[in-house]
Formats: sequence, structure tokens, C-alpha cells
Amino acid sequence: MKFFIDTANLAQIKEAQDMGVLDGVTTNPSLMAKEGIKGQDNILKHYVDICNIVTGDVSAEVIATDFDGMIREGEALAELHPQIVVKIPMIKEGIKAIKYFTEKGIKTNCTLVFSAGQALVAAKAGATYVSPFIGRLDDVSTDGLSLIEDIRLIYDNFGYETQILAASVRHPMHIIECAKIGADVATCPLSVITALLKHPLTDSGLATFLADAKK
Ligand code: E4P
Repeated sequence: MKFFIDTANLAQIKEAQDMGVLDGVTTNPSLMAKEGIKGQDNILKHYVDICNIVTGDVSAEVIATDFDGMIREGEALAELHPQIVVKIPMIKEGIKAIKYFTEKGIKTNCTLVFSAGQALVAAKAGATYVSPFIGRLDDVSTDGLSLIEDIRLIYDNFGYETQILAASVRHPMHIIECAKIGADVATCPLSVITALLKHPLTDSGLATFLADAKK
């Protein structure tokens, strides 16, 4: 299973990369705004900075919602760095854009996916990744993990190669359940990745071993 970090914060990306378990990065306009990255030139430079820290795929989201605009923005993003994946919203124009980029050999991430039907259409268009937002579904009393199960079943039924990128991951159990179901990727904040490491018996066991080592 791949781990992506869901942030535009360079220090956190570097920390995750240094752990040696990071496979890529996802960003979105809200995460860029959170870091105070404004203006087209600064935004593009920031994506390059991220690519220079990590070795894997880096999702960069288009802002346009019309086909021509998405193509223009997506091509500019893809030209920035070979690791860039063009992130495109699950709307009709977005599906057309995903198909266009697929035919040009440019990787895509279909974002804002909340149903199995949307995921099926994204796979048919050839998306490299599909991003179901499981935390946001949980927030509205709908089981996000069931959606991952449904998408896994559908993709396996037909051999779709689109990778399931579980997004809006809020806690370590989301990652563990996604791993059991067979999501290809989970993207989450650094705090969720580091939470996977923690266990009180590890801490108390280590304290005992260190104390005994001094005897
Ligand atoms: C990543 O691709 C998504 O944009 C992100 O995981 C959304 O997370 P949120 O629901 O916590 O904003």
C-alpha cells in the first residue's frame, strides 16, 4: 500500500520523506491556501519545490471547471515536473479532460469522488488515480469505507487499473481498514502517519528494556 501525504507544507513533506515510507503527495487549493501560497507563479514554484523533496507522484489540482481551461492549466502543471499528476474534479468537463490527458500519457487524479458510479466513470476515462473522500462521507453519516469496498469490487470485476487513492483520511483506523480492503493508496496528514507508529506497550516495553540495559 502506498502512503501519500496530504499537505502543501514543505517541512512536513520533508519529515515524511525522511522517514522513508512516503510514496507521494496530494495537495488541493485549500491546502495551498493554508500555507499562504498565492499567485500563479508562487503556486507553480511550490509544486516544483514539493517534487524536489519527494520521489513519487505529486497531485496538483486545476482550478478551471471548463474543458479548455482544465486542459490549459493541466498541461502547464504537467510540464512543470515529470512527477506531477493533474488533479481534476469529478464533473462532466473533468471526465472529458481526464480522457484527453490519458490519451496524451499524462497522469490524472480524479478528485471529489463520493459514489461508486463516479469512480466507475473515472476508471472508464482512464484516470490514474480516483480519490474517494472517506472522511467527508463519514462526516455526513455515510460509511466512507463501504465506498472503498464497492470501488475495489467494481475495479477488480473489470480489471480497471485506476488506483484507489483513499482521501480525506482522518485517523489511523481509516488507513488500516483501507489496507484490509485493498485501497492502493491512502493520503493523509503527517499526524495520521505518525499515529500508526504509536502503541503504549511499545513505549513501556522500550522504557523497561532501556532501564534493564543499565543494570
Ligand atoms: C486529497 O486529495 C483531498 O483533497 C483531501 O484528502 C481532502 O481532505 P479533507 O476532507 O480533510 O479536506
